[in-house]
Amino acid sequence: MDQQLEELRASALAELEQAADELEIESVRVKYLGRSGSISAVSESMKGLSKEEKPRIGKLLNEARTAVAEAVASRKAGLEAKRDAASLAGIDVTLPGRPIPAGTIHPITQLQDRAIQIFRRMGFALADGPDIETEWHCFDALNTPADHPARNEQDTFYLPDGCLLRTHTSTVQIRAMESMPPPVRIIAPGAAYRRDEVDATHLAQFNQMEGLYVDERVTVADLKGAVEFFFRELFGPDARCRFRPHFFPFTEPSFEMDIRATALGAGGKWLELGGCGMVDPAVFQAVSRSRGDDAYDPEKVSGFAFGFGLDRLAMILSGVPDIRLFGENDIRFLRQYR
Ligand code: FA5
Repeated sequence: MDQQLEELRASALAELEQAADELEIESVRVKYLGRSGSISAVSESMKGLSKEEKPRIGKLLNEARTAVAEAVASRKAGLEAKRDAASLAGIDVTLPGRPIPAGTIHPITQLQDRAIQIFRRMGFALADGPDIETEWHCFDALNTPADHPARNEQDTFYLPDGCLLRTHTSTVQIRAMESMPPPVRIIAPGAAYRRDEVDATHLAQFNQMEGLYVDERVTVADLKGAVEFFFRELFGPDARCRFRPHFFPFTEPSFEMDIRATALGAGGKWLELGGCGMVDPAVFQAVSRSRGDDAYDPEKVSGFAFGFGLDRLAMILSGVPDIRLFGENDIRFLRQYR
């Protein structure tokens, strides 16, 4: 049996040496070490050995098995290493790596972040509300009568359940006042939706930044001061604001804000950026009814609100001629705004 084991071991190692690939190595392994392999067969025939012989042959058997298994593993590892070396042969590891392109912040987000920072310095906190709104928050509470053109199905996206996509961020004025007592000093950047014909200056989904300040004795002077400070910080000290009388159902008096600044180019022309005004007492009354208290009694508090279009502002600031470029996701366009 000693000799038989010795021969099996020698022939297994010789065959492994000759094996050309992993398949052949595997078949040698099965031939000798597999369940019905020849070394395993020797193990079977040990049953007939005497008590004295068993441990000695058992030891030899184990040695043979280990030697063949180790030779199998080392031949396989050798082949693997060869394959790796071949696949790496064409690679110059001293070449610089390929850079992973880093993304950039969208120009509207950049502008929004700057605007938030400026208003934060004036004590305004961030607030938000849902894009899918009730008619009450979007129109009724904002003193917008049932026959107002903005409520028309041609202008507003209505959902089957009677809700709608908010047509402006002024909805957040109502949500903020419902949820906290005065003083309230918030800004609310976010999306607004209108069934406008999409063209170079109109999108069906665009971005606005709303502002609201309610406290005792808030005046138009506070409104002008806050808005002027904001635009000077954004466009530089030579920025000038103009307030043109206008109409919004939810403010009285109401104004449109026009801005002129060297940074805005346009040959020193006034550019319209949004609306503002003093919160209409009817809005405070609606909020009071909803809250069930008199925290927003129009005899006790007053406030100002404003809302401007962030996309239009970004267009002017970056000299972008077509508002649609902001939504097209063209990396060549976006990459310019780092
Ligand atoms: C409003 O939406 C008022 N809620 C603003 C307001 C708030 C007034 C608080 C008073 C107090 P207006 O409809 O004018 O107002 O829109 C404001 C700005 O949103 C516009 O000046 C414009 O910059 C932007 N805007 C309006 N429609 C679009 C559109 N389809 N695409 C891109 N920007 C738009």
